[in-house]
Amino acid sequence: MNTDSSSLQLNKVVPEAEDFLPLLGTDYVELYVGNAKQAAHYYQSAWGFQPLAYAGLETGMKDRVSYVLEQDKIRLVLTSPLEPGGEVNAHIDKHGDGVKVVALWVDDATRSWKETTSRGAESYFEPKTIKDDHGHVVMSGIHTYGETVHIFVERSGYNGVFMPGFREWKTDYNPEPVGLKYIDHMVGNVGWNEMNKWCEFYAKVMGFAQLVSFDDKDISTEYTALMSKVMSNGNGRIKFPINEPAAGRKKSQIEEYIDFYNGAGVQHIALATDNIIETVKQLKDRGVEFLYVPETYYETVLDRVGDIDEDLEPLKELGILIDRDEEGYLLQLFTKPVLDRPTMFFEIIQRKGAQSFGKGNFKALFEAIEREQASRGTL
Ligand code: FE2
Repeated sequence: MNTDSSSLQLNKVVPEAEDFLPLLGTDYVELYVGNAKQAAHYYQSAWGFQPLAYAGLETGMKDRVSYVLEQDKIRLVLTSPLEPGGEVNAHIDKHGDGVKVVALWVDDATRSWKETTSRGAESYFEPKTIKDDHGHVVMSGIHTYGETVHIFVERSGYNGVFMPGFREWKTDYNPEPVGLKYIDHMVGNVGWNEMNKWCEFYAKVMGFAQLVSFDDKDISTEYTALMSKVMSNGNGRIKFPINEPAAGRKKSQIEEYIDFYNGAGVQHIALATDNIIETVKQLKDRGVEFLYVPETYYETVLDRVGDIDEDLEPLKELGILIDRDEEGYLLQLFTKPVLDRPTMFFEIIQRKGAQSFGKGNFKALFEAIEREQASRGTL
């Protein structure tokens, strides 16, 4: 893919999102993992995802196995290879477990492929139709940053559980959901000086617009630095913040990710809830580990964000962060990496009007951590 970074000035202009690529939502997110069966158990047990569909030897798939889980509108696909060699093994070897596919739900997968490839996207695969007794699904795919791909899924002609090739997955083990509703945004980490190139890709190839008023400046403290811009499709259902490392006095978290992932990839998936206190309580009870928020964060947070509906005490107890923008406020917190390498993590977010991404928390959180370090003499 070639992009010319001079053709769009994303810092200054807010290009209107174009409608040549109407997106209905995120269809699924597929991770390539070392052991899909055990990963599926983790997402059921710790995260309350429900079993939906399965493909493997029993369904005629010879080289890989996939488990599909869902919670409200969120669908995760976990895929592991059954044989040596091949692209799934190569992906896991290079990146560890991680997101391969961010699938987008569309009305017309053929047109989506044509519109994007004609604007410079590199094809992952051409439009194809797959069928079974429940109907047909049309799919096509394009490459994005790193080895990540977007697959366009047209499923209006299908009424099976997931898609042809999969069968319903039923089990007696069904832990309760934890109240996760939909994917709010998915963040990509890209290499040094590549943020603008990939923002331009989403603008030019996919018709996204930059949400220019949020997170468009350096997010930095004295020690930690990153740059971030947020790209959104026209209806706002798909939001992809893109981060690149920035020089600081210590190695940035983005740089650490790039080192361990061996390139660009999905950094975090933000999952929305209507009741963050209940959701986070349950996740913690089930063993999900969150980033530590020092108590000092809560000493000044209400001065920064003003009045909120919630009591501060449970938020403090659970380490939930608060940020405000012109439209309202949001509650959020971040897990530790959920894989062996320090790469991908999740965010839990509850929006109360705010449409931004918690920019105020980056600085406040990093500075609170640094204050703690200073008190220990370790900064
Ligand atoms: Fe986020």
